[in-house]
Amino acid sequence: MVDEFLFPSLQAGTVYEEQYPLATALGRPLIARYLVEAAREHGAYAVAHGCTGKGNDQVRIEVGVMALDPDLQVIAPIRDWGMSRDDEIEYGLARNLPINTRASRFSTDENLWGRSVEAGELEDPWLEPPEDAYLWTRPAAETPDAPAYLEIGFERGLPVAINGESIGGVDLISHLNAVGGEHGIGRVDHVENRLVGIKSREIYECPAAIILHAAHKALETMTLSKEQARTKARIAQEYSDVIYNGLWYTAHRADLDAYVQSTQRHVTGEIRLRLHKGGCTVVGRQAPQALYNYGLATYDRQDQFDHAAAAGFIGIYGLPVRTQNQAQPD
Ligand code: ARG
Ligand code: SIN
Repeated sequence: MVDEFLFPSLQAGTVYEEQYPLATALGRPLIARYLVEAAREHGAYAVAHGCTGKGNDQVRIEVGVMALDPDLQVIAPIRDWGMSRDDEIEYGLARNLPINTRASRFSTDENLWGRSVEAGELEDPWLEPPEDAYLWTRPAAETPDAPAYLEIGFERGLPVAINGESIGGVDLISHLNAVGGEHGIGRVDHVENRLVGIKSREIYECPAAIILHAAHKALETMTLSKEQARTKARIAQEYSDVIYNGLWYTAHRADLDAYVQSTQRHVTGEIRLRLHKGGCTVVGRQAPQALYNYGLATYDRQDQFDHAAAAGFIGIYGLPVRTQNQAQPD
């Protein structure tokens, strides 16, 4: 999950519609893979899922299964046999499936990258989400008064250390979910555009994803050129749609990923963040191969920038503007 789905998505900067770090969407292709493996193990001709006909998940799971085993059939009882939620729970319990029967007015999904909550009163986009929609994060008013500082170390765009100590991906994400949630970070309230054409209001809790995307992006500001950063932002938007729309196992995603991987060669360094009252702020950055150059940036005596060259540069840079305004003054 971490190495194949979450970290490539982090490196790519994929946040759907600038709000949703795609936890549910990233979990589906892995579930599809396990479905296909289980079908092979049991010699089954079909697999089943419990998605409705209105959502994205049916598409992600079925297209994922199709890609991995084009001959496998998919059965969707909720959608195709008109099963209700109660029927579904009864069916699962009768077969000892480990399902959550805790009465909830919300429909939820969760994995390491985040928690998704929809339905119930959240369907009224004017209503503020009730506090019990959240499980991973505290409301800002109940967070510690003192800020927490964190240093995240990256190697080639992958987070590998916290406060100078190396740490594996699962532990790193779990830790950031815990401290981030404690400080009220990672709440997202988004009206999103589903693949099937519906707008839906979803609440997300994703402290680690929010912190890591902020840190990773900050390190890229130090290590990517302007052109790389801008092109990469366009690729990120496309890559987000690919993930959201269930197209993980495609040549197109592999191509986008090849570009992203190439951009990560120098994205190595440390980012310092302050977590406080629901906000996650980057307060420091350093990178051994940074493009940020003190001698060029400084206004003090160590300045190495060639000021005289600027005058010539502006003369040529402004030349077409002057030319046009002389010839066409009206
Ligand atoms: N809308 C989100 C997505 O399409 C999450 C859906 C998760 N399911 C849920 N029952 N909340 O990725
Ligand atoms: C579902 O329809 O089963 C969940 C929601 C979604 O896939 O968007």
